[in-house]
Amino acid sequence: MTQDDDTLRQMIETTRASWNERVSHHVDDTSGLYDLSSFLRGEDTLSPIDDAELGDVSGLKIAHLQCHFGMDTLSLARRGAEVSGLDYSSAAIAKAKELAAETDLEATFVCADVYDGLDHLPGDAFDMVFVTCGTICWLPDLEPWAKVVAALLKPGGRLYLCDLHPAMAQLEEEDGKLVVTYPLGGLGAEGALEFHDEVSYAGDGTPLKNTKTFEWIHSLSHILNSLIGAGLSIDYLNEHDIIHWPVFPSMQSGPDGMFRLPDGAKGPPAAFSLMAKKQPV
Ligand SMILES: C[S@@+](CC[C@H](N)C(=O)[O-])C[C@H]1O[C@@H](n2cnc3c(N)ncnc32)[C@H](O)[C@@H]1O
Repeated sequence: MTQDDDTLRQMIETTRASWNERVSHHVDDTSGLYDLSSFLRGEDTLSPIDDAELGDVSGLKIAHLQCHFGMDTLSLARRGAEVSGLDYSSAAIAKAKELAAETDLEATFVCADVYDGLDHLPGDAFDMVFVTCGTICWLPDLEPWAKVVAALLKPGGRLYLCDLHPAMAQLEEEDGKLVVTYPLGGLGAEGALEFHDEVSYAGDGTPLKNTKTFEWIHSLSHILNSLIGAGLSIDYLNEHDIIHWPVFPSMQSGPDGMFRLPDGAKGPPAAFSLMAKKQPV
């Protein structure tokens, strides 16, 4: 193992500890971002972007990567899909299994790093790999990730990815202005960005003990070229002015439950989404 590998491993474990702690904060969320009681009453948690773009998923076999504590996974099950959720947070997976039992919904959940996905989920087996909302920023390189995604898919199967737009991820809000703050495209230990959050982006305001995380801002070219390099073709790439969470304090929520810049504010797209297909044999 090189020193760089060792540093990267430590970064990932530091970030994973933060995720493990955040699960209980998100389960007890009072901000409305993770509305567990509505979900338990039968509400679907997929975002309006996913809803408009996914189409009918009933009967599809879906791998939901980085599924957190499983509300979207179980919403896909409610829509009639046969779903497997994967996340490297043992706390997230434990809660997801508890929710599946509580709601009597059929889904399997595995605790694993997404890079090791093929050791835990079958290859060439899924009609869809579903990855949304705060996911690829935790991954130090997308080339190996795209190979896992491609290997999980059946020939003709599709990846649906929807996440924060990299141009938005580069910004911070300072005195009400958006300022380009972070570099784009770093990879591995050298390209990691270190963040400190006193509280999670959702929850009840309880301070975090594991405040430090490491993230990566992947450019659209790295995202697309990683998928193309893994043998997928791009059906579409869309850009949206709404996003699932308030990336900046000035963002306002709309009746759709999504967040956007205030009226008249100029900024890059907030989110992107894409569908990519594995070539049929
Ligand atoms: C913001 S949440 C994603 C939200 C999720 N898509 C949902 O449906 O609610 C990010 C998730 O990624 C997981 N994660 C981060 N890095 C990971 C990795 N390398 N392998 C597996 N899961 C990972 C975290 O544990 C966390 O649950």
